[in-house]
Amino acid sequence: MKNETYNNLIKSVEALIEDEPNSIAGMSNVIAAIHSTFNFWWTGVYFVEPNANQLVLGPFQGPVACSRINLGKGVCGTAWQNAETIVVENVHEFEGHIACNSESNSEIVVPILHNNKVVAVLDIDSKEFATFNEVDGKHLEQICHLLSKKYWN
Ligand code: SME
Repeated sequence: MKNETYNNLIKSVEALIEDEPNSIAGMSNVIAAIHSTFNFWWTGVYFVEPNANQLVLGPFQGPVACSRINLGKGVCGTAWQNAETIVVENVHEFEGHIACNSESNSEIVVPILHNNKVVAVLDIDSKEFATFNEVDGKHLEQICHLLSKKYWN
């Protein structure tokens, strides 16, 4: 069920970015597609800003969020530092979790890699506990790969 929904979403993502060379326009629509498909609480991208050694907020859907996150801080900064997907079933138990919004209870962060370096992270928050698992991770990694190929090559 979730697999099928993601497979359809991935087809939409391909169609949304195919003819859109502008990365902000393309990624804004991809974020909107992910967000509305699953009715998530917050869905967005943070870009690595190498000079500041920080993540800076990019296209997103949902409530106002932190605009900057330091390397190694929170779920996003940890996923960036470790260059790996992080699934958090209960954000209140994740040491250093950054609560941009008190209503978030679970989270997934997937790095966007280019030449084996993290260039951005995809962050999704849910109001429910344990919303995300390896099925989300696998498909969101595919979406991040499509974004990297299109906008970082
Ligand atoms: N909770 C995240 C911060 C970003 S907001 O949730 C949108 C974290 O701990 O990295």
